[in-house]
Amino acid sequence: MTVAPADTRILLEVRGLTVRFALPAGELIAVDDVSYRLAAGRTLGVVGESGSGKTVTALALLGLLPPNCGVTDGAVLWLGTDLVGLDTAALRALRGRHISMIFQDPLSALNPAMTVGAQVAESLALHEGLGRAAARDQAVAWLARVGLQDPRRQAEFYPHELSGGMRQRATIAMALACGPELLIADEPTTALDVTVQARILDLLLDLQAELGLALQFISHNLAVVSEVADDIAVMYAGAIVEIGPAQVLFDTPHHPYTRALLAALPRPGLRRPPEPIAGAVPSLTERADGCLYADRCPLVMPACRLARPYLTDIGNGRSTACIRSGEMSS
Ligand SMILES: Nc1ncnc2c1ncn2[C@@H]1O[C@H](COP(=O)(O)OP(=O)(O)OP(=O)(O)O)[C@@H](O)[C@H]1O
Ligand SMILES: [Mg+2]
Repeated sequence: MTVAPADTRILLEVRGLTVRFALPAGELIAVDDVSYRLAAGRTLGVVGESGSGKTVTALALLGLLPPNCGVTDGAVLWLGTDLVGLDTAALRALRGRHISMIFQDPLSALNPAMTVGAQVAESLALHEGLGRAAARDQAVAWLARVGLQDPRRQAEFYPHELSGGMRQRATIAMALACGPELLIADEPTTALDVTVQARILDLLLDLQAELGLALQFISHNLAVVSEVADDIAVMYAGAIVEIGPAQVLFDTPHHPYTRALLAALPRPGLRRPPEPIAGAVPSLTERADGCLYADRCPLVMPACRLARPYLTDIGNGRSTACIRSGEMSS
């Protein structure tokens, strides 16, 4: 048997992406000079505390930012074409067909007034040009594929008639039905019961392997991300502060914030209790000149407050935005 060579094309290249909100209190920088690349079939985990810019980054890729918010700098290259500034029709053609997104709350992604079968069928009809009956049949096949036990009957259910786990399965069917190359999963299991979380995660990973999907997996939890991701980007206050291969980051974090995230994880078998990260995320409207983590950093020195440290390649495929990262040992 011959094995097809793995597809390692760079699908997505985000370059210097900057996203601002115009708020009554001033301008808020939600995403600050973010750059990363994602190859076909690979998984990028994105971690960081609440408000660090994970969701806004994803919405910017898909052209789904709210009206008081926009990309003010940078590029989002999809197979080399910049998506920033594409018109609504072009973005609509891209979403679902090439890049899909699922959210923490499946209800927010579903239309409450339409059966789940009709919703999956609708996107098939839109993107694949299928007729009604064919779209319905394929929708039912997708609902079966994501694990709905009685898909023909459940296709007729409205979202509120399904359990949380089943609803998330239905949104996964909707997201994948038109064969996207990239799925962005934004905290896809956080709102679910613990027992259901693992099953949904397994389903996503099975589908990823089967379909050769690239995955941008967003989570608060560095431990979960390190299990599923090839690479991890750690975000803090809108910026990536450390990025590199998952195992390298998890085993030897070099940015003090990545270290703090790791220390905050409950670890079965370890005697020491998890240490919550002291302090709060800085204001994103009044930005200091220096490192945004300076006020919470145990290693801060005067130089840290003078200029923003930029992401610097420090070997092993890892980049870190910390002027003291060279001092970190494993
Ligand atoms: N609709 C909005 N109006 C104003 N500010 C917003 C809005 N949505 C997000 N923000 C701000 O943008 C920044 C980034 O938010 P984002 O939702 O991307 O964070 P996140 O990392 O996804 O957090 P969480 O883990 O809580 O989902 C935050 O400071 C947030 O307050
Ligand atoms: Mg979010």
